[in-house]
Amino acid sequence: MADLEGLKVAKDYHVETPFANQNGFYLKGANSLDWGMKKHMSNIFNPKSGNTVMFAFDHGYFMGSAAGLERLDLLIPQLAPYVDCFMGTRGAIRTCVAPELTKSVALRVTSGSSMLQDDLSHEVVAVDIEDAIRMNADCMAVQTFIGAKGQLSSIDNLSQVINAGMRYSIPTLGVCAVGKEMERTDRFFKLATRIIAEMGCQIVKTYDCENFEEVVAACPVPIVVAGGKKLPEKEALELAYDVIRKGAHGVDMGRNIFQSQYPIEMAKAVNKIVHEGMTAKEAWEFFEDETH
Ligand code: 5RP
Repeated sequence: MADLEGLKVAKDYHVETPFANQNGFYLKGANSLDWGMKKHMSNIFNPKSGNTVMFAFDHGYFMGSAAGLERLDLLIPQLAPYVDCFMGTRGAIRTCVAPELTKSVALRVTSGSSMLQDDLSHEVVAVDIEDAIRMNADCMAVQTFIGAKGQLSSIDNLSQVINAGMRYSIPTLGVCAVGKEMERTDRFFKLATRIIAEMGCQIVKTYDCENFEEVVAACPVPIVVAGGKKLPEKEALELAYDVIRKGAHGVDMGRNIFQSQYPIEMAKAVNKIVHEGMTAKEAWEFFEDETH
């Protein structure tokens, strides 16, 4: 095991230098993937902007009908025009996402936590690869707890899913979990996102933090950013703008869309930032025009 104690070299993330090994395909770290993987990645990440708006509604797998997700059947069709990818459980997707919606799917495949528990870090792989194939999933999302009690089992889950995904050319989305007891520093996110990417995930989901551009620079696959707890809409748009400006390839936003009084308009405004290069200020003005 390498010893960190003698480490003296100053860190240099070369944040201004684009990812180098990208000849032939538009997505970071996807150069050597086969056709099937690239096709799924292209379904998720718009080839023109290189980015994605994922709508995360997988909260039910540990929170039940979290506030704002009581009627997915009503919400999903309204949001569909403004998002690129639906991220949810197989139960929610099969029942509430019409197959006619030609949007990509990020299928949540791990489970085992509930908000009634203190420690959420022990999960299992709950969906097998055959069902992910049947659902035409574009990627499989695995909750990954680095530095928590359940780290070993979540690394085991992640490895199983990546191995199965490699057999059938389905990308894996490693979701960097932040439990109550876990730090939310750039030190933590640099460690966790890099571990997840080096395990072999094709996409990493994480959170915004200080020096976020360094987290992105050191992660060799595309990063999508969770919205986190509900913020005032203006701040949520600033968050989206900030992470895209610093190199994220999209957002995977849940509560800041579905808990807004104006979820459709929020999704539209986020889409303008992610795909059309709007600044936070422009997107906020757009949102205000749409809602007044
Ligand atoms: C839970 C998740 C959620 O999908 C994620 O937190 C995104 O939703 P939000 O924007 O509400 O944070 O991965 O583990």
